[in-house]
Amino acid sequence: EKPFYAEYIRERIRTVPDWPQPGIMFRDITPLLQDKKTFRVLVDVFVHRYMDQKLDYVAGVDARGFILGAVVAYELNLGFIPVRKKGKLPFDTVAEEYELEYGSATVEIHTDACTAGDRILLIDDLVATGGTMLAAAKLLDRIGAKVVETAAIVDLPELGGSKLIREQGIPLFTVCDFE
Ligand code: PRP
Ligand code: ADE
Repeated sequence: EKPFYAEYIRERIRTVPDWPQPGIMFRDITPLLQDKKTFRVLVDVFVHRYMDQKLDYVAGVDARGFILGAVVAYELNLGFIPVRKKGKLPFDTVAEEYELEYGSATVEIHTDACTAGDRILLIDDLVATGGTMLAAAKLLDRIGAKVVETAAIVDLPELGGSKLIREQGIPLFTVCDFE
């Protein structure tokens, strides 16, 4: 049911219990980046999925979404749009606040990051509550872009984010899940 590469990638993600706080099972993607062959397999999964699609940009979410997003953009011959945490972008921005498990956070995008009607692939490393991905998608929508698909390496389905994203009519692709 899952494609052949899903388990290869899943078993190379490191789980760190009780980080950054007790009760959290942190899914650490750094081993996927460290090993040159695994990094290439990972990037190629995304490149193969999108290489024949009509896209204008890849957007990536600060900070872990930048790593995969920028490489996938380069390989697809597309420009890259950073969605940044509050206060990092120097030009005119729009902002979206979203809820975290404790408190809230804000993401921003430059108002001239793309042109109205542009077709965007939005990439992050992981979907938990979906708050980050939905806020980033909303920013792109507010500057007139069309989010063709959202994509991440990891889904944590029990936290409900992937369901929420799909319920909003936004397609979401993920490589593997952790309960
Ligand atoms: C993590 C992760 C996603 C987000 C997922 O980022 O990289 O962006 O949380 O959680 P959500 O679905 O509940 O929104 P974090 O905010 O820890 O920032 P980082 O990329 O700077 O580590
Ligand atoms: N972001 C939100 N929840 C996470 C988790 N369990 N592991 C890694 N990144 C996360």
